[in-house]
Amino acid sequence: WPYYLGALVIGYLLGSIPFGLIFTRMAGLGDIRAIGSGNIGATNVLRTGNKKLAAATLLCDALKGMAAVLIVSLWVGRHAPALVGPADAATGLVAIGPAALAALGAFLGHCFPIWLGFRGGKGVATFLGLLLALHWPTFLAVAVVWIVVAFLTRYSSLSALMGSAAAPIILFLFGRVELSEVFLVLTLILWWRHRTNIRRLVSGEESRIGRK
Ligand code: G3P
Repeated sequence: WPYYLGALVIGYLLGSIPFGLIFTRMAGLGDIRAIGSGNIGATNVLRTGNKKLAAATLLCDALKGMAAVLIVSLWVGRHAPALVGPADAATGLVAIGPAALAALGAFLGHCFPIWLGFRGGKGVATFLGLLLALHWPTFLAVAVVWIVVAFLTRYSSLSALMGSAAAPIILFLFGRVELSEVFLVLTLILWWRHRTNIRRLVSGEESRIGRK
């Protein structure tokens, strides 16, 4: 069990780094939580008008999820190889048990960081990074859904909701039942974190990408 707990804690600590908040502060843009939707994610950083900062937030929020999975996989693989489940056919190095806990920890860390009074982001970039680390073919499929919906509707939230809903289904179709269960949990949390966006989408008040 120390490996399972360790995986959760490492994931949580990495996931709880609020890159959007840190980057906008460093750039002298003030507190991102006082801008736009108040969210600390890339979509809201984009509302400051700084595209590079938004891209950096998207990338780093994704990378911290990937880092959590990879670090835990390597650590557990090295010290407790018995815990390493069947190697992931796609990446070759993922220990699903502890890696899944690292993924869950990272996602919870991003959405509910202790440093910000448990008021964090909505999880989209971290979700994508975790998917890339755990099953890249599904990541590609979800990225296509995300980009197509974003292109057609210009709603960042709707793209995230559709892409995340597709993830557990696609993983299941790939025969990755254990991963589809993990991502079903992440998708439910992501939808919960988007509940105000869902309300705005329904009432037609959601803001579109490219508008402040
Ligand atoms: O994907 C993040 C996005 O879905 C919502 O962000 O700032 O519009 O609430 P925001």
